[in-house]
Amino acid sequence: MARDLSVRIGTLELPNPLISASGCFGYGLEYEDVTDLSALGGVCVKGLFLTEREGHAPPRIVETPAGMINAIGLQGIGVHRFVKEKLPLLRERGARVFVNVCGTTIDEYAEVTRILTDAGGVAAIELNISCPNIKEGGIQFGCSLLGTGQVVEAVRKVTHLPVIPKLTPNVTDVASFARAAEDAGADAVSLVNTFLALAIDVETRRPTITNVLGGLSGPAIRPIAVRMVWECAREVKIPIIGMGGITNARDALEFILAGATAVQIGTANFVDPFVWGKVLDGIDDYMARHQVERLSDLIGAFDPTPPKVVHR
Ligand SMILES: Cc1cc2nc3c(=O)[nH]c(=O)nc-3n(C[C@H](O)[C@H](O)[C@H](O)COP(=O)(O)O)c2cc1C
Repeated sequence: MARDLSVRIGTLELPNPLISASGCFGYGLEYEDVTDLSALGGVCVKGLFLTEREGHAPPRIVETPAGMINAIGLQGIGVHRFVKEKLPLLRERGARVFVNVCGTTIDEYAEVTRILTDAGGVAAIELNISCPNIKEGGIQFGCSLLGTGQVVEAVRKVTHLPVIPKLTPNVTDVASFARAAEDAGADAVSLVNTFLALAIDVETRRPTITNVLGGLSGPAIRPIAVRMVWECAREVKIPIIGMGGITNARDALEFILAGATAVQIGTANFVDPFVWGKVLDGIDDYMARHQVERLSDLIGAFDPTPPKVVHR
């Protein structure tokens, strides 16, 4: 019998749990020569404000052991150009489009969402309330329980689409933010955005990137992200989209077992744009080996019983 990798996020059914992470897959179309966009569970595009933004001056990325620090500064074409130039093509390709919505004010989040909802053809709204590397990147909302609730409530009023606030890991108790989002009417939460980080060039004794601070992503953050997903899964009933350092099927399965309904892949896509097929095949192999017919049976199937004691 064919195995069923489909998952549900609110009213949205995805053929599989793999979604591109915002900022790591352009507007999707850049990758269509190497990836069938309709074969992904979803394509989450770069963060969009109402207007175009240039982002920070380079250098704005730096490699770190098992990861990278970026401070792109939410460079983007703005929602109007996206709706006109990109959305029709994404729709034609059969992509399930998640839009990462940014705002400097609560009204801007609502307005960008309203424009996207009216445009049609968007599958879900991911609210970026967690960008660590620009002051007005939503982090002022995402680091406050009240602010998180206010953004979700305002956006909830203007759309029927699934609303998915993206949580920052730069807080002490991430689960309380998932709870605030759920209470305010979110359909799901996604986590984690990047960890605030600093890399110093010891020769010049200055920062390696122009913004001084940036966000750490990639395999280095994965165990912390898995822990945070698990904490949120115990706190809320809404689905969780997990991410942070996924490079292969085992990594993706860790998030799913910890309670994620779907996962996003970001930094790994820069290393290997063919990662998607490999992760999907690996999940399918795992399901065959463990005689699991429906992927949804694995969501939250983590058994926290400690492993057997190994005698020294
Ligand atoms: C270059 C770069 C740009 C990013 N841009 C965005 C963005 O526009 N909006 C957003 O919510 N997250 C953005 N992120 C964060 C990722 O979507 C993701 O949350 C994070 O990188 C962790 O996943 P990963 O380790 O698989 O990359 C960006 C990350 C990177 C590396």
